[in-house]
Order: sequence, then C-alpha cells, then structure tokens
Amino acid sequence: MQTGEELLDNRLQSFFFSSRQRHTRLRRDWSSDGCSSDLTPLWRLAGFALGAGTALMGEKAAHACTEAVESVIEQHYADQVAELAEREPDLAAELARFRDEELAHKDLAIDEGAHGAPGYSLLSAVIRAGCRTAIRISEKV
Ligand SMILES: [Fe+2]
Repeated sequence: MQTGEELLDNRLQSFFFSSRQRHTRLRRDWSSDGCSSDLTPLWRLAGFALGAGTALMGEKAAHACTEAVESVIEQHYADQVAELAEREPDLAAELARFRDEELAHKDLAIDEGAHGAPGYSLLSAVIRAGCRTAIRISEKV
C-alpha cells in the first residue's frame, strides 16, 4: 500500500509526464514541417545534466531548477502565443494551454520549497540565463 507521500509523488510524476508527452507530440508534428532546432539533442543532454546536477544538490535545488526553467519556458510560450494569435489561432490556443501547464509546474516547484534552495538567487539567475541563451541560439540555428 502506498503512503500519502508516495501517492502524491506518483500523481506529480504523471502530471509532469502527461504534459511533457503532449508538448513533445506537438513539437514532433511541427518538426515534420521543418520547424525543429537541430540542437535538440544538445538541449536534451544539457537538460539532463542540469536536472541531475541540481538533484544532487538536494530536493529544494531541484525545485529551484524547475521553477527557473518553467519561468523562462512560460515566457517563451507567451511570446509565441502573441506572435501566432492571428496567423495560427489553433496553434496559439494549444501553446497557451501548454503555458498554463508550465505555470502550474512552476507554482508546484515553489510550493515544494524552491525558494529555500541553498544559493537560490544565484542558482535561479544562472539557470534562467542559460535557458534564455539556449532559446536565443535555437531561434538562430
Ligand atoms: Fe513543465
């Protein structure tokens, strides 16, 4: 029998996993139209390293990482929604839903103690800067 904490962990994992599956599916659909970055494997590797690295620093650092990444991603989605709203309203609506999910992930990370991570301000600033840089590079490559 699962404890309440295990049940919550499982629910959180399926929440994150189902979001990621839908986001990946949309990206794959658009990839076949030539809208993907060639750098996706590099970003996957960097994302894994970032996730593993902050997890090794502790649970709150991992949540601080999630919060920082989701902050940048939700802003990126918001920019895309604004850009596509008139030209591709269906896609913009889908991206707006994704943005809402990223905001929920961010709120959850805050609730779980992201702001209590050791060196939170610096850690968060570095991760946000890295994510913004990755997005800028992907937009040009
Ligand atoms: Fe997310």
